Amino acid sequence: PPKITTQTIVDMKERGQKISMLTAYDFTMAHIVDQAGIDVILVGDSASNVMAGYETTVPMTLDHMIYHASCVVRGVETALVIADLPFMSYQVTAKEALTSAGRMMKEAGVHGVKLEGGKPIVKTIAKIVEAGIPVMGHLGLTPQSIYKFGTYKVRATGDEEADQLLEDARLLEEAGCFSIVLEKIPAELAQKVTAELSIPTIGIGAGAACDGQVLVTHDMLGLNKEFKPRFLRRYADMHSGMTEAVQSYIQDVKSGDFPSEQEQYG
Ligand code: KIV
Ligand code: NA
Repeated sequence: PPKITTQTIVDMKERGQKISMLTAYDFTMAHIVDQAGIDVILVGDSASNVMAGYETTVPMTLDHMIYHASCVVRGVETALVIADLPFMSYQVTAKEALTSAGRMMKEAGVHGVKLEGGKPIVKTIAKIVEAGIPVMGHLGLTPQSIYKFGTYKVRATGDEEADQLLEDARLLEEAGCFSIVLEKIPAELAQKVTAELSIPTIGIGAGAACDGQVLVTHDMLGLNKEFKPRFLRRYADMHSGMTEAVQSYIQDVKSGDFPSEQEQYG
């Protein structure tokens, strides 16, 4: 299949074709997800939680993200690969943001970057886009601001925050974003944003009207038992599957069943 570009993603909205996006942080997972036919792979800073075991995405560094992204890029043939710029790699100055985005693209080989936020970073986004680096926006529950929100509850349930989000979405489109992630906002608001914009919205906990959907791969595979938000659909129970496999291995080693005659050299 032909390589997916940012233009492909924008065209898909026009044609009314839904966009599928999943996360990956390493070569093996990226290869599986790409070969399965996903449209977009996000090297999310959720790697902070999923890979590194931190409680939030705040500790993630640009060097960590470049490492994860470079591993993913080597596993991908056709998907569009977008990487998150981590907390404090783009907020201080537009110049630093462009340097961070440029490093991500040159050193990891991704096709674009994702930044969290609206109005305060639109000039920064315009600068990155002008340099030839595609940018995906991210509004709603933006996890890098968790200490500002103080909670992972659904955002923009009130009129003021909803109006601001709609305005932010317009500004992001104007600044040149090719797409926007909408995280954990009321479905009705996501529908409104999706109808207003000519660039595609990709939702996570943002309802069915979005032009595409994204989930954290480890979550949808059921690799962790604890994380069960309303928006998550589990497509496998890999926590149980892996636990059973490991337990069988332990049992076979202990009993002497493994290795068998066929599993050793003469
Ligand atoms: O880091 C991440 O995985 C994300 C998605 C959930 C949108 O930003
Ligand atoms: Na993220």
